[in-house]
Amino acid sequence: MANILLLNGPNLNLLGSREPEVYGSSRLEDIEARSQQVATELGHSLSAFQSNAEHELIDRVHAAAGDGTAHIILNPGAFTHTSIALRDALLGVGIPFIELHLSNVFSREAFRHTSYFSDIALGCVFGCGAFGYELAVRAASNFIAERKT
Ligand code: DQA
Repeated sequence: MANILLLNGPNLNLLGSREPEVYGSSRLEDIEARSQQVATELGHSLSAFQSNAEHELIDRVHAAAGDGTAHIILNPGAFTHTSIALRDALLGVGIPFIELHLSNVFSREAFRHTSYFSDIALGCVFGCGAFGYELAVRAASNFIAERKT
């Protein structure tokens, strides 16, 4: 049994209505509920947090260092391509994480091809839509089992 933290960055609160041709029709609350369901099936607990503010995401990562979080699943949204500060927060707490994007960022604009997270992530899930969150929870569970935590 481990605690998994699901973190979503800016504009992901608009999922369901935001560019559905790119991000699909699932709402964030449905994605979070499904992620929690899969985590429970696998014997873990999952907390979800979304913010449009960089400092709130950083503060939540810092808090994860003291609340028993074993693994983070992170969709940084557009902060993927800009935020050295959020990268440093993850390095600072040393909690392993999976980077996730609903869309395949590599098939999109060139500015989305750069990530401040991929090289320090344990694994990455890109382009699988909302189902990617379920994949990430399953992958996190495997990583946790491998570490025997
Ligand atoms: C995203 C991809 C980012 O480039 C974009 O800024 C987002 C969503 C995705 O899930 O596909 O906000 O992280």
